Amino acid sequence: MGLTQYYAAASLDGYIARPDGDISWLTGFGGGSNMDPSDVTDRTFDAFMAEVGAVVMGSKTYEYVLEHSIAWPYDMPGWVMTSRDLPKAEGADLRLVEGDASRIHTEAVETAGDKNVWMVGGGNVASQWVEQGLIDELIVTLVPVILGEGLPLFANGIPGEFKTKSVRPFASGMVELTYDFPR
Ligand SMILES: NC(=O)c1ccc[n+]([C@@H]2O[C@H](COP(=O)([O-])OP(=O)(O)OC[C@H]3O[C@@H](n4cnc5c(N)ncnc54)[C@H](OP(=O)(O)O)[C@@H]3O)[C@@H](O)[C@H]2O)c1
Repeated sequence: MGLTQYYAAASLDGYIARPDGDISWLTGFGGGSNMDPSDVTDRTFDAFMAEVGAVVMGSKTYEYVLEHSIAWPYDMPGWVMTSRDLPKAEGADLRLVEGDASRIHTEAVETAGDKNVWMVGGGNVASQWVEQGLIDELIVTLVPVILGEGLPLFANGIPGEFKTKSVRPFASGMVELTYDFPR
């Protein structure tokens, strides 16, 4: 069985998106140089993706991806947590699901097999997953921008402290932080 990882990028002040959902401060980040945008995390994203066997996200994140991507970007089974009857992305292996996060987690873990489950976010669903003890690892890529307001990495506070597993600075100025989340 693989890990369940919440992997997201956040501003220095802990936001994953502007209040209206905008993430252009992240997707357009070039490290203040003419750097190739695919190199901003020293290609660790490609290595991360190679180990992902299933993706799960909340409906707001799903709608953002649908609106801003030319094609569905994930070539593995996906789950979208929603109470609504949303349109399915063309060519996507997707399930629209609602209710208990642990049931959805079990399905995603079984489907991913030896690979990992990527909890894509946002903070709303990530909080539910942490509260139910479903996340093994948090990987946050800190982007050196300050938004002042926005949508948080987690919607709710989480009691206790977490174990820092690694700190990885990238040439672009981003820093990847990895934490163990005991179940
Ligand atoms: N920086 C990053 O790396 C990163 C990562 C992920 C997301 N984001 C951004 O974050 C923003 C969205 O984050 P968010 O926290 O506001 O929203 P979200 O977690 O993506 O979606 C929340 C929505 O999912 C549905 N939902 C949640 N739990 C459910 C359950 N148990 N059963 C059924 N439906 C459920 C609800 O909507 P309905 O039931 O009404 O559908 C809820 O309003 C987007 O702008 C996205 O681009 C950024």
